[in-house]
Amino acid sequence: MGRTQICIVDDNATWLARLGRLIEEADLGDVVSYRHPLEALTSLRDRHPDVLLVDYLMPGMNGIELLTALHATGVPARTPVALVAASLTEPIKLQAWQAGVMEVLPKSITGQEMALRLRNLIRMAALPPAAEPAAGSASVRDLLALGAERGGDVQRSTVDILGRLAALRDENTGKHTERMARYARAIAATLGWSTAQCQLLREAAPLHDLGKIGIPDSVLGKAGALSREEWDVMRRHTTIGYELLRDQASPILQLGAEIALSHHERWDGTGYPLGLRGADIPLSGRIVALADVFDALTTVRPYKPAWLVEQAVEQIVQDSGTHFDPDVVSAFTSSLNRLHTIKAHYDGDEAFAPLVPLPN
Ligand SMILES: [Fe+2]
Repeated sequence: MGRTQICIVDDNATWLARLGRLIEEADLGDVVSYRHPLEALTSLRDRHPDVLLVDYLMPGMNGIELLTALHATGVPARTPVALVAASLTEPIKLQAWQAGVMEVLPKSITGQEMALRLRNLIRMAALPPAAEPAAGSASVRDLLALGAERGGDVQRSTVDILGRLAALRDENTGKHTERMARYARAIAATLGWSTAQCQLLREAAPLHDLGKIGIPDSVLGKAGALSREEWDVMRRHTTIGYELLRDQASPILQLGAEIALSHHERWDGTGYPLGLRGADIPLSGRIVALADVFDALTTVRPYKPAWLVEQAVEQIVQDSGTHFDPDVVSAFTSSLNRLHTIKAHYDGDEAFAPLVPLPN
């Protein structure tokens, strides 16, 4: 290992200067620093540091959210991380441990202690990597290969339970998750995915909103419009779901993690949580995003009646290239017969009901 690359993300210039000086004087490694989390997110996609020192309170996203986002963009989960905060509360510490942070340090720490603890993190970074499960961004093909080596039944039961757990948290999500997953499978099939790939998507898609189990009832069940702060909380269901599902050996859970994190991204980059754009958004997330909206539009919600399929199609086509991937929209419009059949099955509509039961 060459010189250790230490990355510091902190919006406080004085702290950055102090820490940079300390690292230099103790000759611990080379420092690269960022004053804004989004700047770090963009730069660290291509160059992964050996050790990360992240401030908790920053504009745009907090240190733990940044860490989750960094992992999603490929920074290895085993990179030693220290979270630094001016005031450390118990909930922050718990969130940090949960996110895999190895050190939680107050900004009041002495220079000597900081240097010693940093040295320990550097030693940890120098250890050879243990065998890790495939990363959350593995392709569907990799996941299928992995799945072939593992028992499928236990996985499917676990995933089924998780999907139902997610549905329990949200009165809309009972039939919604199942129906939406079938829409997603139909669209993927039109896009040319293999039967096995389509089936994996069908099994992983119901996990898209699993993170809602971490959203307080006061926000999730609120009758009126959400405030800005409440929306910020609600948006976290993407990263919470990802955190719950990532780093699991099961291919379904890995694909579920990818979908949980990416299903609210938008083709034009205005989505969340990462603001990814175009083909940077995993295709699974782009498909589920459309299937999710199509189902929401065509079913009754507490705040709106069910739209006709034709109205929903018109809206989705209009949003092609802004909200949705144009190729996925084309596949969607080419799959409408199949989507009608799926919808009719759930609506109990005899006129459209399939002659044979829908596959699982
Ligand atoms: Fe969602």
